[in-house]
Amino acid sequence: MVSRVIPVEPFDLVIFGGTGDLARRKILPALYRRFCDGQMPSEARIIGAARTQQSAGDWRGWVGEALEEFVAAARREPQTVAAFLERLDYLAVDAKGDGGWQELCDRMREGVVQAFYFSVAPSLFGDLAERLHQFGIARADARIVVEKPFGTDLASARALNRTLSEYFSETQIYRIDHYLGKETVQNLMAVRFGNVLFEPLWNTQYVDHVQITVAESVGVGGRGAYYDQSGAMRDMVQNHLMQLLCLTAMEPPSRFEPDAVRDEKLKVIRALDPVLPEDIVRGQYKASDKGPSYREDAENEASRTESFIAMKLHVANWRWNGTPFYLRTGKRLKSRKSEIVIHFKEPPHSIFDEDAGSRANVLSIRLQPDEGIDLRVTIKEPGPGGMRLIDVPLDMSFAEALGADGADVPDAYERLIMDVIRGNQTLFMRGDEVEAAWAWTDPIIEGWTKRGDRPFPYDAGSAGPEEALMLLHKDGRRWREIG
Ligand code: BG6
Repeated sequence: MVSRVIPVEPFDLVIFGGTGDLARRKILPALYRRFCDGQMPSEARIIGAARTQQSAGDWRGWVGEALEEFVAAARREPQTVAAFLERLDYLAVDAKGDGGWQELCDRMREGVVQAFYFSVAPSLFGDLAERLHQFGIARADARIVVEKPFGTDLASARALNRTLSEYFSETQIYRIDHYLGKETVQNLMAVRFGNVLFEPLWNTQYVDHVQITVAESVGVGGRGAYYDQSGAMRDMVQNHLMQLLCLTAMEPPSRFEPDAVRDEKLKVIRALDPVLPEDIVRGQYKASDKGPSYREDAENEASRTESFIAMKLHVANWRWNGTPFYLRTGKRLKSRKSEIVIHFKEPPHSIFDEDAGSRANVLSIRLQPDEGIDLRVTIKEPGPGGMRLIDVPLDMSFAEALGADGADVPDAYERLIMDVIRGNQTLFMRGDEVEAAWAWTDPIIEGWTKRGDRPFPYDAGSAGPEEALMLLHKDGRRWREIG
């Protein structure tokens, strides 16, 4: 396939938290891969900024080690790595004091895109924004990138939005939800709006229900302290699963443009009915040969935080009235598997004998691993014996269909960071979207606290607690297998 990489404009990208875990695991490897593909012009520069006092050379050495760990060996030619490292500079800055800011101001260049990546705790967002303003560093067209968690409830999200808006306009703020940068998540829009095949059926008349699963096999490991304050609801549902739900349920935007897409997503969140307590199941993984229990990982023997959640949602609008959306996500499950599955209704009338069997079509969009799309269609079982119906897959694995290009799925951060430089906010969350998601989440979490709700223990390596299976069984449905 011909490479369609179009270089972005020259830029200065400052990464606050430049010595942190996200920079090491995601941001810098993503930038390196874009560099390898020729997307970074020669005048592009990346400045690491953090509290640690060290030289640019020290930081380059550290980044070099990060690339060794997080970039495939085949893509790490020594000359390419060296050329990339040359683009890097470093400055020690004190987010809460004055140290380093004047130097940062002096290093900024005119005439290039200016982007500031806040890869730091949200409690520092305000300080950084203020310093960038106070020292006259950020220009009126500068972009800032902020990471989740964007607040822990509606009040804190609003406070963050207010703080940032004191210094930056909404068109300058790029709130990352890395799920939106995943190739297959963008593919959901391509499948829905780039084909005539699905959209006419994409409604309650033809869709029986939708399942959205983001299953992980890892536990909360070293992140126990953060996770115990957050749980699956805040860590995954309020943001990632909510975004998947929005892209699945939204009306077609008039154009693939930031506000057109985000307006439609916002309408979905606002149309969500409050969730009944009996429509939510929470769980905590038990100890196993795979590792300690959730409570041990969280170092909180009395923890009531959920490492698993399953829920039934209703999008109360004309398109979806009567079609439930079942969402689930959890840690230490059977395998790592994320998918969106559309279960269509059975044909309204069968012309075949009852014993021919009847099948409903199922469209699954595999987000990870083995990215692809699978549509189950009904056919006649070959051979004699009359008309017997079976369902067979029309299965498209990106890796098989697109060859090397399909197998080499870019990391979400590659796309998102380049979109920041290009000034395209389509795949970033707008302030009102984040607030609407918290407005929906808050009463659910408050309800748990009021009722003293406890998560159900579940076996590590399972599909979550039995009660989660019952959530669908009682509606006469079944979850898809996780592994
Ligand atoms: C993060 C969550 O946002 O997403 C983690 O904080 C989770 O708990 C991760 O493991 C999952 O991302 P991915 O891209 O591995 O599916």
